[in-house]
Amino acid sequence: MIDSIELTQARKYLTDLVHQAGETLRKYFASRDFTQRSKAGVDFTTQADEEVDAFLLGEIRKRYPQTNFLTEETAPDDYSSLKDINNLWVIDPLDGTTNFSRKHPNFAISIGLVDKGVPKLGVVHIPMTGDTYWAQADQERAFLNGESIQVSATDNLGESVIACDWAWGLEKRLNVVNWLGNINTHVRAIKSMGSAAADLASLAGGQIDAYMHSGLKPWDIAASSLLIEKAGGKITTPTGGNWDVFSPDILASNGILHERLINLLNTKNNSR
Ligand code: IPD
Ligand code: CA
Ligand code: CA
Repeated sequence: MIDSIELTQARKYLTDLVHQAGETLRKYFASRDFTQRSKAGVDFTTQADEEVDAFLLGEIRKRYPQTNFLTEETAPDDYSSLKDINNLWVIDPLDGTTNFSRKHPNFAISIGLVDKGVPKLGVVHIPMTGDTYWAQADQERAFLNGESIQVSATDNLGESVIACDWAWGLEKRLNVVNWLGNINTHVRAIKSMGSAAADLASLAGGQIDAYMHSGLKPWDIAASSLLIEKAGGKITTPTGGNWDVFSPDILASNGILHERLINLLNTKNNSR
């Protein structure tokens, strides 16, 4: 097992890799020529998800042979033991498969490097805009295309733009419905944009003020959570508890609105 990975080198390597993978997704997106396969319940995957997953896993493993992997398309049912290990690559090859399959351009490639549930490197690439976000534990800031980014300064709930999204696990969706019931009359807008990785990156960049979800997977959020932290935001569970990349329920915000949102979300506790 290698002890440490030089983060700047790894980030530059990943940036190149996600651009290559992004090219593959753009080609499939334009051609519409890909197969789809059902997973559990209403979940599904496409040939593009599987091809990019195999590409990223294969390339990163060649470069860092002694490390560990949690990728969406190869994840075992129970990956809880990975919480305790270091140098874990957490990969979502195509975050926003529904958008991709419906020709909506909001989807992302997300790669995080995680030690015991805590991310130390995150790269999120949006193929259809060419945008690449990154953050490293050993740097102060988060970056978008080389420029540092910051969460919003919104301090008035009545001016806030909040996003949420829906889990593939249908039993979790009622939690979000209940949270929405509690906040909907207090905020300016509520969006559901379809790619947790891209949407959380947009929180880091100040385009939205908060994001809530019940039922995220580590690969949806490992990379973007570091962007948010380094851009000055805050992430907890929706009840204000400690969060790590293995926590399925999340409230992420610009920090300023965080306590007020927690109070609102938990006004009536109908969560399952
Ligand atoms: C999904 C998206 C979506 C979120 C789901 C995720 P996928 O990822 O991030 O925004 O609401 O919970 O599973 O399946 O498109 O990679
Ligand atoms: Ca995915
Ligand atoms: Ca995902």
